[in-house]
Amino acid sequence: MNKIVDVLIIGSGVSGIYTSLNLKDDIDVLLISKGKSHDTNTNLAQGGISTARNEEDIKLFIEDTLKAGKYKNDLSAVKILTKESIDNIKNLIKLGVNFDKCDDELIYTREGAHSVNRIVHTKDNTGESVQKALINELKQRKNITVYEDTYFADIISENNKCMGAIIIKDNKQINVYAKCVVLASGGIGGVFKNSTNQKILNGDSIAVSLKNNIKLENLNYIQIHPTAFYEQNSNQKRFLISEAVRGEGGILLNSDNKRFVDELLPRDIVSKAIYEQIKKSKVPYVNLDITFMKKDYIMKRFPFIYEECLKRGIDISKEYIKVSPAQHYFMGGIKVDLYSKTSMENLYAVGETSCTGVHGKNRLASNSLLEGLVFSKRCANNINDFIHNIDIKIIDTNIITTNLQTLINKNREMVINIIKEKCGDYYDELLDCR
Ligand code: SIN
Repeated sequence: MNKIVDVLIIGSGVSGIYTSLNLKDDIDVLLISKGKSHDTNTNLAQGGISTARNEEDIKLFIEDTLKAGKYKNDLSAVKILTKESIDNIKNLIKLGVNFDKCDDELIYTREGAHSVNRIVHTKDNTGESVQKALINELKQRKNITVYEDTYFADIISENNKCMGAIIIKDNKQINVYAKCVVLASGGIGGVFKNSTNQKILNGDSIAVSLKNNIKLENLNYIQIHPTAFYEQNSNQKRFLISEAVRGEGGILLNSDNKRFVDELLPRDIVSKAIYEQIKKSKVPYVNLDITFMKKDYIMKRFPFIYEECLKRGIDISKEYIKVSPAQHYFMGGIKVDLYSKTSMENLYAVGETSCTGVHGKNRLASNSLLEGLVFSKRCANNINDFIHNIDIKIIDTNIITTNLQTLINKNREMVINIIKEKCGDYYDELLDCR
């Protein structure tokens, strides 16, 4: 079956939906989601979204982002990220996101490696509130169709020009011909046993890029979050204990009940310090302590974490939280320019699957949703400007004969192999894959 749209967007996290919402309303859009629209890493984000607090803060925000990223960041991308943060946060508020406020002023929290408090948040489930607001808005837009439970199988292209994509819905192949395709399929946490990500996120767009010679970059830049809830023998995604818990004063204690690291150093450094403790003590976790905070405060500021830990048998107002590091974020991905264009004509990538270079080697806390907003808006603006120059062309397209699960497994294997190859020892040491 063939389908024709102006723009096809692969993914329903912040980057995919925000791209669709920023396209002109006379552009016919199909947005697909591998699971349900809310099965995204966006929905899991707890801490918040970084933003420059004002024009004066931009310089320091740039410096914090570069320092956390080991100065491997793309400076132009960092300047854009920080400068365009303010307007995008205002826009999210217009779209209905209720960030926490006091006397009508936004409350900013702090996380590791930020010099000042500059993270807006909705208690401790910011991602869910962003996802809900975006999906509500999406439902109002007549030009956008959403297909859930739909798998992105391949790109349709000719002479390095993207013509559309092959998707699989209800076990049927649909060849979607489009003027532009936007890859927004999220991270790669599903290829790790030990990750805070949604299990279904296997880096499908990375596999498709490998098959189509689309340029990839920094595939060894993988972030480990220091504090995921420790559970023995669990095959589920790891439950994140937000960095905001440390930002608000939580302390890490080793098996001798002693502090061993400045909790607000960049994530890679704190993760490494925890691994060292685990190796030394042979206890597979360290403790995060917030028992000295008032219970009322804990329940008001971290209601989600409180409830989730309680479900797992820990009352965090009275007991330590057992934590250990877990894969959390992919800084590498599909190489894009500052308008989110990939190396293939008419093909864009946004969010975690893309690599703008903005995060360098280690992403600054709460810069991921911000990247999703800023660079998907730029992507949409670019499409708005140029789409009228692009024609749809129907070309012969491969028939996918492989069974869907086999295809998913093959793509997953491909991503595992390339990540292993690029990471070498680092991968074996830290990531406890599969
Ligand atoms: C967290 O709340 O610790 C995660 C936020 C992020 O990934 O930046």
